[in-house]
Amino acid sequence: MSTPTPFTADAHFSDAWLTLREPADHRARDAQLTHAADHWLAQRANSTATLVDLGCGSGSNLRYLAPRLRTPQHWLLVDHDASLLEHARSRCDELVSAAGEPIQLTTQEATLAQALDDALDGADLITASALFDLVSAEWIDALAARCREFGCAVLFTLSVDGEIHFQDSAGMTLEDNDDRFVFDTLAAHQQRDKGVGEALGTLAPSYLKQAFLRHGYHLREAPSAWRLGRETWPLIDALMAGWRTALLEQAPAQATRIENWYRTRLSALDAGRLMLTLGHRDLLALPPESTPGMSFDTSFETSVAPSQDRPA
Ligand SMILES: C[S@@+](CC[C@H](N)C(=O)[O-])C[C@H]1O[C@@H](n2cnc3c(N)ncnc32)[C@H](O)[C@@H]1O
Repeated sequence: MSTPTPFTADAHFSDAWLTLREPADHRARDAQLTHAADHWLAQRANSTATLVDLGCGSGSNLRYLAPRLRTPQHWLLVDHDASLLEHARSRCDELVSAAGEPIQLTTQEATLAQALDDALDGADLITASALFDLVSAEWIDALAARCREFGCAVLFTLSVDGEIHFQDSAGMTLEDNDDRFVFDTLAAHQQRDKGVGEALGTLAPSYLKQAFLRHGYHLREAPSAWRLGRETWPLIDALMAGWRTALLEQAPAQATRIENWYRTRLSALDAGRLMLTLGHRDLLALPPESTPGMSFDTSFETSVAPSQDRPA
């Protein structure tokens, strides 16, 4: 079997790659934000809660969340990839809520642009995981405005933030000129248009925060980095292969430098001499009407800080 690859030119992802990353994603997520979302839903929904997962892939986010939420749930899964929706349906049809109640599931083949028009109405909670590096600032602005219009909360997890570190067995971060070149080149590659305008790439987490703060949302953010060692070798191998492809696409004139970097870092990871940390952020945003401090948490942000987050 060929190595599943995380990078595609047209924002289509294989089920093999999404399946490979799922355990690392579930380990990395911030459990407290899920708990807070569960609490908010339990206070708000007097019957079945409506939840929408944007860019659902084969349903990883749903498999994490549904059994951790107590309310009865109706989920709408949205993706532009029909084959991933088929995988999601077949792998999520027996899910139950934290209270043991079977969840209801609907899927919709749609683009993210279309989803803004016809998938959000009536939702209590909009979710997405590993999605926002692909989208544009304009799409996030429109999403935040639609969420405000419908008064729904959002839980967006595993947005890459550009923090990549190689660490030795003593926990020391190693970073040389080639690493810095690689990280900058990857960040540039991530900002290519993936079909929803110029992609935000690693700027997405901070842009998301600002967009929802501007609409008066209460925010809570948490890190959700992958920490990968030799025991997660298939994931490291696929990730590094995907990075190599992206680097060669972005900087073909630097092929020798890229190949040397790739071989050096991969062999150290393979030998267990290095760990790889890949940063992500999770965000929970509750609409202005919520009173999060009263019930379960007092650490929500509620105002817009000066920001240079919008890309030039
Ligand atoms: C990195 S995958 C994440 C999938 C899933 N959320 C997970 O955590 O495993 C990004 C997903 O977004 C979907 N996607 C990307 N661009 C899209 C677009 N313009 N419209 C709809 N879905 C899109 C892809 O098909 C893919 O399923």
